[in-house]
Amino acid sequence: MESIKILDKWFKPYLTEAQILERVKAVADQMNEELKDKNPLLLAVLNGAYIFAADLTRMLTIPMEISFVKLASYEGVMSTGKVKEVIGINEDLEGRTVVIVEDIVDTGRSMKRMIESLGTRNPAEIKVCTLLFKPGKLEEDIKIDYCAMEIPNDFILGYGLDYDQQGRQLRDIYVVEER
Ligand code: IMP
Ligand code: MG
Repeated sequence: MESIKILDKWFKPYLTEAQILERVKAVADQMNEELKDKNPLLLAVLNGAYIFAADLTRMLTIPMEISFVKLASYEGVMSTGKVKEVIGINEDLEGRTVVIVEDIVDTGRSMKRMIESLGTRNPAEIKVCTLLFKPGKLEEDIKIDYCAMEIPNDFILGYGLDYDQQGRQLRDIYVVEER
């Protein structure tokens, strides 16, 4: 695999699709075991989690539902600190096991906002599932129940994650390269 240029930055290969899918499978196995009698409602956060959610749900063998919500907080490579409202919740969450499915937990602000917002709708429990987690950047007190991979603080893209909306369709994950 070769480095690629997206807008003004170079990115080098970091995780192959096969490596990613192996980790997604491990998370799916864990959910199949722990949530088997709960008919969980997965709420995948658009846009970043669309590919992760598609692969993860097709590895789930338990009764489950999926829907999509949105909230945007990121521009370029720096978090803006401004987190928008959660939109798109049309389901009744009362008494449900809700699993938030995210692409990445960075500072944790977006996830905290999601948990707070969904919490007002009386779910039985809220679980947190993320493809990637940057422990070195975490600023909020969040419990992550399902995590496919922990990564360093570097900016990454591909497999749903973008750099200024570019690169989401890449099958592999790339990391920014200093040149
Ligand atoms: P947080 O609120 O700081 O945890 O940021 C979470 C959101 O920022 C994620 O849902 C992503 O959309 C975006 N984000 C954080 N780190 C990266 C990255 O390395 N690449 C692409 N997007 C990122
Ligand atoms: Mg996101």
